[in-house]
Amino acid sequence: MYIKPNVIVSRVDRFWENAAQSPLQIVQLPLFIEREVSVYIKRDDLLHPFVSGNKWRKLKYNLLEAEKLGLKRLVTFGGAYSNHIAAVAAAGQAMGFETLGIIRGDELYADSNQTLQFASHCGMKLQFVTRAAYRNKESLISQFGENSYILPEGGSNQLAMKGVGEALEEIQTQLSVPIDYLCTAFGTGGTSAGLLSAAALSKVLVFSSLKIKKSDIETHLGAFVPLQDKKLDIFTDYHFGGYGKETEELNQFIDDFEKKTTVPLEQVYTGKMMYGVVDLVQKGYFNPGDVVVVLHSGGLQGKRK
Ligand SMILES: Cc1ncc(COP(=O)(O)O)c(C=O)c1O
Repeated sequence: MYIKPNVIVSRVDRFWENAAQSPLQIVQLPLFIEREVSVYIKRDDLLHPFVSGNKWRKLKYNLLEAEKLGLKRLVTFGGAYSNHIAAVAAAGQAMGFETLGIIRGDELYADSNQTLQFASHCGMKLQFVTRAAYRNKESLISQFGENSYILPEGGSNQLAMKGVGEALEEIQTQLSVPIDYLCTAFGTGGTSAGLLSAAALSKVLVFSSLKIKKSDIETHLGAFVPLQDKKLDIFTDYHFGGYGKETEELNQFIDDFEKKTTVPLEQVYTGKMMYGVVDLVQKGYFNPGDVVVVLHSGGLQGKRK
């Protein structure tokens, strides 16, 4: 008689393994058709209702590692509206980790906004600290991080990059033509670094959502991945006033894009990146026949209506 082997699959394995690929969708704006530039969007925003976009990619190998190390508690950092905080809280709840979020700003509390409320409802403990204390991560880790897996701010580290690389592997199976350009929003750098590290031939276009110098972004990315021999272009003119800032023009663009394509964007990252992509097409940055893939990194939990 055949006895089926008793394979024990953990909650953490199951979470990642049961996932379907996110779709790759063509974006057919009249401008793109007119300029003969093929633009696709990798809909990682659809991966999961709460652990979506680049969070899904960045958390995967980190949480598998936490489990391997036998650590049942995740500690991480973020600002008041952090998508990363919301995603870690939801992932922890789904996979059975305790979670602690160390939040920048001691004037805040769990009901301050919907991101913190959501995290707290998922069972995340929130530790609010002053901006000065927040800068000293080592001290916070020694105070709050005992027996815990520490996820850096934004979840950006080498294991995060490995997860982001999988998005590109998927895209390559979904698209039968070579990808000339890969576009991503920049915040803490892990997503850009993951694409840079995985991309052999495509040029990576990085759109900063922060008001920051190009050379600082290069230094930052260089800490994750050697940049020599990498095809990279960094755009720092699409921040619309800085991190978390928005303008009427940006909101108008997002509304218009959503109506024409049905792809939702938000104001902090993906709206600014997509504005940049459309602007570059308009300015003739791409050649007719070019294939451009934009990574939808999620963030819709924080979307301001
Ligand atoms: C929705 C969204 N897109 C893009 C980014 C930028 O990614 P990274 O921090 O890896 O540069 C973030 C921040 O992590 C984000 O929340």
